[in-house]
Amino acid sequence: MDAHESLIELIGNTPLVRLRTPGAEGAAVYAKLEYLSAGGSVKDRIGLRMIEEAEKSGALRPGGTVVEATSGNTGAGLAMVAAAKGYRTVVVLPDKSSAEKIATLRAYGAEVVVRPGGLPAHDPEHILNVAARLAESTPGGWFAGQYGNPANPAAHYLTTGPEIWRQTEGRVTHLVSCVGTGGTISGTGRFLKEASGGAVRVIGADPASSVYSGGDGRPYFVEAAGRFRHPETVEDVWPDSYQQDVVDEILPIADRDALLTIRRLAREEGLLVGGSAGTAVSAALRVAAGLGPRELVVVILPDSGRQYLSKYFNDEWMLRQGFLDGDPGAPRVGDAVPAELRERPLPYLHHHRTVEQALDALRARQREGAEPVLPVGPAPVAPGRQPTSVELLGAVGLEQLTAALARGTAAAGDPIADHLAPPLPRFGTGEPAGAALAELAEQGGRTAVVVHDGHGVGLIGTAELRALVDQALSPSPLG
Ligand SMILES: Cc1ncc(COP(=O)(O)O)c(C=O)c1O
Repeated sequence: MDAHESLIELIGNTPLVRLRTPGAEGAAVYAKLEYLSAGGSVKDRIGLRMIEEAEKSGALRPGGTVVEATSGNTGAGLAMVAAAKGYRTVVVLPDKSSAEKIATLRAYGAEVVVRPGGLPAHDPEHILNVAARLAESTPGGWFAGQYGNPANPAAHYLTTGPEIWRQTEGRVTHLVSCVGTGGTISGTGRFLKEASGGAVRVIGADPASSVYSGGDGRPYFVEAAGRFRHPETVEDVWPDSYQQDVVDEILPIADRDALLTIRRLAREEGLLVGGSAGTAVSAALRVAAGLGPRELVVVILPDSGRQYLSKYFNDEWMLRQGFLDGDPGAPRVGDAVPAELRERPLPYLHHHRTVEQALDALRARQREGAEPVLPVGPAPVAPGRQPTSVELLGAVGLEQLTAALARGTAAAGDPIADHLAPPLPRFGTGEPAGAALAELAEQGGRTAVVVHDGHGVGLIGTAELRALVDQALSPSPLG
């Protein structure tokens, strides 16, 4: 029979497909479609290998529990293999993970523990620390630990690399891959370098603010790739699974480029892939444009776009984060903060400022005729850094803080982090001003944060929004 005994046999061995997008003058780009693996992502490979190695070493025994901290795909890979082999799975996830990923894990029977994302590595509530503790306290528990587990890069050295070499008949000259744990690029890249006598060039694709490509580590919107650095992280130790000696170059790719690329890939090529595939393809196209027809680029597309239908493929979500420009024929929120003003620092307060300092800043706003409220976020790692919209965790207002002081529930020297009101509403630069005005009124607010490419670039008040709408309605002076 042409059939398989177990779905484990259907992990990996993914096809290569040529991208049509690059111009004929550049090198051909072939995409390795990891979403066609049995569990839907590049992480099936390491899920299988880590479990098999743990079985061999005796770290995982029959009836045992697999525990992992992951943004989702490794959890799904582990949960799928664990289900097929009869183990229990517990996955600890950061709260920015998409709803689809969480539902997938639950569907495989995994127990899901959600913890706040964006914590410094030393925080006991950081997902890695929570998972390690859970594994220790669970009888028969085994912590997979993809960041420090040699089976992660080994899985790619033993499967992904050889597949690409065989599929291209040794003609591959460039490998482009995202770097999360670094397992994919390290294992695949090392194999291809060895097979080609050092000729294959290995290029990392990295979200622009990730520390791997020299960014300041602030949050970004492409899930599962790159490395975030919390402003309070004292020492940022990169994972053992990222073997930097294999990587020749690492290109920073803006979230906007990555996300618009996957929307184009879906519409123009029928390839429905996730955000990190957009980061990788954007980098691969850049690399290919500088090469000739004798060179051949392979880019790894880690997972499917179906996991991100509510985000990257949802126009409302994209507009709200300021990744879409909206309808230029109608007044837009961003018209109040034109491009040349978007580099100005956003007026916001660092969360360790005191109530007294906040009151001074809020009174100054009042004197300027603005509503005396300000968003609150972490202090910047680098000077002038615009906070990502997701970092603006709250707000403070003059009335609110004055009332708290009068009641005695706040003291002048308290950090404002202890007295936060809910975050201000946010609108993307491409959103229609009229709809934003209506929504702001509905929420009972008078000030909102304007978001462009995921970053706060200004504050906008009801009066400014109304002026934009009225201006568009009033007849032009030329009649
Ligand atoms: C969708 C997606 N892209 C990219 C990566 C990064 O791969 P690696 O961890 O092998 O560097 C991951 C890892 O979780 C992922 O899930």
